[in-house]
Amino acid sequence: MVGYKAAISTALVASISHAFVPSTLPQSPSPNTLEATAIAGPIEQVDERTGKSTGTSFLPEDTIARARKGSPIEKDKLARDALSSIVDVYDYARKIREGTMTWDEVEKADLNTRLKFVGMVHRDKRTPGRFMMRLKVPNGIINSDQMRFYADCVGKYGPELGVVDITTRANIQLRGVKLEDGPDVIDGLHARNQTSFQTALDSVRNMVGSPLAGIDPLEMVDTRVLCNALNDLVSLDPVTNTRGNPAWGNLPRKFNIAVSGGRDDYAHTHINDIGLDPAPHAETGVMGFNVVLGGYMSIKRIAESIDSGMWIPADRESVVTLSEAILRIFRDESERKNRQKARLMWLVEKYGVEEFKAEVIREIESYNRGVKVEDAQPHPTGPYERRDLLGIYPQKQEGLSRVGVLIPTGRLSVDECRDLADLADKYSNGEIRLTVEQNAILPNVDNDMISDLKKESSVGKNSRLKVQAGFIEGNTVSCTGAQFCGLALIETKSHAEEVANRLETLVTVDRPIRIHWTGCPNSCGQVQAADIGIMGAPARQLNEETGKMMAVPGCKIFVGGKIGEDAHLSLDPYKTGIPLAYESLIPELIDILKNEFGAVDKKTKTRKRDIFKKLISPNFRQIGGHS
Ligand code: HEM
Ligand code: SF4
Repeated sequence: MVGYKAAISTALVASISHAFVPSTLPQSPSPNTLEATAIAGPIEQVDERTGKSTGTSFLPEDTIARARKGSPIEKDKLARDALSSIVDVYDYARKIREGTMTWDEVEKADLNTRLKFVGMVHRDKRTPGRFMMRLKVPNGIINSDQMRFYADCVGKYGPELGVVDITTRANIQLRGVKLEDGPDVIDGLHARNQTSFQTALDSVRNMVGSPLAGIDPLEMVDTRVLCNALNDLVSLDPVTNTRGNPAWGNLPRKFNIAVSGGRDDYAHTHINDIGLDPAPHAETGVMGFNVVLGGYMSIKRIAESIDSGMWIPADRESVVTLSEAILRIFRDESERKNRQKARLMWLVEKYGVEEFKAEVIREIESYNRGVKVEDAQPHPTGPYERRDLLGIYPQKQEGLSRVGVLIPTGRLSVDECRDLADLADKYSNGEIRLTVEQNAILPNVDNDMISDLKKESSVGKNSRLKVQAGFIEGNTVSCTGAQFCGLALIETKSHAEEVANRLETLVTVDRPIRIHWTGCPNSCGQVQAADIGIMGAPARQLNEETGKMMAVPGCKIFVGGKIGEDAHLSLDPYKTGIPLAYESLIPELIDILKNEFGAVDKKTKTRKRDIFKKLISPNFRQIGGHS
């Protein structure tokens, strides 16, 4: 309890000293709160230990009735308030430290499910007893102090387990964390104005914005203030002003929101439940957003977002109110039995787009905040070429540039975290921006300092981090894969990095080629949006010893996903059953690169035969298991 109170007070300080915007969200409960508190029966209204309303107390009676007959996770959420796991983390950690319990005595429902609401995701299958801790990094912006803190958190777990990942929501995941260390991480994050609460399972995920917010000469909307406001909406309790907002403590499923800042759509609005796509009002010229809804990918279904027919001004109140209204409808009305059907798209389809729009408008009007929804506005037209995030480019501020830093597959060792923090302190006023391509950007670098930055050994020849990355390595993305994720059919990150390095030495391409890896059909690595997507899948290969076809680690390959203004998902695999072994995979990829993307063989002094020898060298890491 003492720890929790400490967390509450540091969270309070943190929320007041918010990096960009102090939180001034409306204090009044949503209209449903009063209705919900009237529900009698066994549903707990207030959790005594947190002093907060329970997530379930916000649900209308019929939603609770559906949840009662719902999936096992629904029943768990009714039985024990998800957000009160905040307190349990402190209790468990204290007992483990005192030696009165061990991590494996924590009841399974808490260990593997409920603690996810605090952002602690037990990696039970691959690394039992170790947790991935997922943060919230609104708009993907962090500072050097936070980056050093991540390194301090995981350093003691050693180089294999103690690493830091940048995710495809421009977010941070800490690796290898022990349960007894959870409170220190949480306290340290809150002291640094960050949180891990409400980041996993049925929570609103990290707010994705434009990584060039505020520095982009072609910017339409500065997304920072909006991402911060949305982050507060979903994770800051307006009653106690502490992190952990019970209003969204019992959602039917995860929920993604992305705010795009311009025509490049760096935030990938089309694969989010709510995507805000900038468009000025045709008559008034006021900048605003067309609202696209329901984009998501899963094993059962891949849905590109659809036009909702709504437009809102690009101000904080409108963006928060629209999101709150949609979240409220989603929370109370979405499916509670079949988790596959509990995503927003299914609800929009159940209503029909027009009727859903009308319902959202009714909800917004009921809040009486003066927010007005208008019909969708024409999207800006005319030729437009999506710009690179890696590389060195001038900003709108004269004399300053943004410098992209390649972080291969988003994976950072402890030393690399500290190197990046040092670079940020020296060149970008301590600021680091993360991208959904799992790379980083140092903003506001003085043009006179760029040549010094390029000479830094931490981005030099012997470093994984680079400021002048190749078109393939710079655009390789990978999900977590078999090293930590129990759902993976293949190891991904180490192979993604290795294959990108090999391809860079074998072929030349004249533009960024986005190769995405994902360990299983859940497609967290978003292979359907990639130029070339590699998804873990079964394959068979002739075994020379037995003379028989044997099962080997393999993949499906997807080709032709598009991002940006004409975003399009590539749903059908281009190839299936490709063994992952390099001698099979790399020639396949080279063929695709040449046939579909105009790649040519690299001019090299190495003879073809030697290249092939290199490909099948036993020094290559074993494909399939993680190395
Ligand atoms: C039901 C389907 C899905 C399951 C079971 C699932 C499961 C997981 C798991 C277990 C992780 C954490 C792995 C680790 O790092 O140890 C993860 C991370 C992640 N997944 Fe999924 N996933 C699903 C679908 C998706 C889809 C469709 C997307 C987006 C296209 C997605 C995006 C992500 C992202 C971005 C992360 C990194 C964390 C973050 O920044 O929020 N996932 N997912
Ligand atoms: S795609 Fe599969 S293997 Fe990769 S992180 Fe998601 S669930 Fe795990």
